Amino acid sequence: MRIIGIETSCDETGVAVYDSKQGLLAHALYSQVELHAEYGGVVPELASRDHVRKILPLLEEVLTQAKTSRDEIDGIAYTEGPGLVGALLVGAAVGRSLAWALGVPHVGVHHMEGHLLAPMLEDNPPEFPFIALLVSGGHTMLVKVSGVGQYEILGDTLDDAVGEAFDKTAKLLDLGYPGGPAIEKLAEQGDPDRLTFPRPMVNRPGLEFSFSGLKTFALNTWQELGDSPQNKADISRAFQDAVLETLAIKCKRAIQQTGVNTLVLAGGVSANKALRARMQKMVEKEKAEVFYPRMEFCTDNGAMIAFAGHLRLLAGERGGEGFKAQPRWSLEELVAPI
Ligand code: KG4
Ligand code: ZN
Repeated sequence: MRIIGIETSCDETGVAVYDSKQGLLAHALYSQVELHAEYGGVVPELASRDHVRKILPLLEEVLTQAKTSRDEIDGIAYTEGPGLVGALLVGAAVGRSLAWALGVPHVGVHHMEGHLLAPMLEDNPPEFPFIALLVSGGHTMLVKVSGVGQYEILGDTLDDAVGEAFDKTAKLLDLGYPGGPAIEKLAEQGDPDRLTFPRPMVNRPGLEFSFSGLKTFALNTWQELGDSPQNKADISRAFQDAVLETLAIKCKRAIQQTGVNTLVLAGGVSANKALRARMQKMVEKEKAEVFYPRMEFCTDNGAMIAFAGHLRLLAGERGGEGFKAQPRWSLEELVAPI
């Protein structure tokens, strides 16, 4: 079965072709980062308009790259939610129309399911069950994954998502958007021993997170120390260390609590190299293993939607007559494909 996957939930237009026997045949991505950078965050209306401009050229591009003609396509998967409603509607409308025009089945995919199955696109895929740490701009979750569609949320954030905390802190420190890569780069020049930020929620039992206090802590520290490149680097380092340490402590707890010793990192923040190194250290001590997608599949992309969609279509799942966009949609509402 050869399918097209379409991602348009936020500020990246992603399209991919996945074949159940040959794997990923082609993928293309257009990032709107520069478009939104001057506003310091994603402007929903601009995002929708840019998806409209880019989606058809990207579709042509991946079909050419995959040496696939339209009549070789057996199904279409598109991101149904969660995300920005206008942006989601672009992918859903194009995906659904294409399925109708080609006379093939379609399926709406949960964006976070795409992220958490993304490490399975790699050569050495993790096996079920695993614990997934989903860390993106909109989510911070620990999920027990027993199979496709079998998701139990073990812990969630009470306020900001990790990526959001990176973005907001970077904005306060005037580092630009998106904040994650900017903080990671600056943190490399920071002194690890100069400042220590609090590790939120680690002294309480449970697997909940809270990151909103860290940005205020960063701002207060910056105002106290004054503006200098070294101060900014040291603050970035202390902020990042606090986030990574907190995530590592909660992941270790989830492994110990469930007895599941396979950990998957997914979502935009899993592109952070220091996070990967910190988790590697933790799993070695726990005699567990950690998996993550290649860098370009950590952030939003069409390949993960094509992959999750192909598993569902292969299992016989079919979208209905119309199409839906669900801006808010819990992972736990998903069920295993029939
Ligand atoms: O998964 P994603 O592309 O979009 C959402 O679904 O949210 O994640 C984007 C988030 C942004 O908040 C961005 O700052 C963060 O991932 N991010 C990073 C890094 N690269 C992207 N955070 C920390 N370190 C990075 N290297
Ligand atoms: Zn995402």
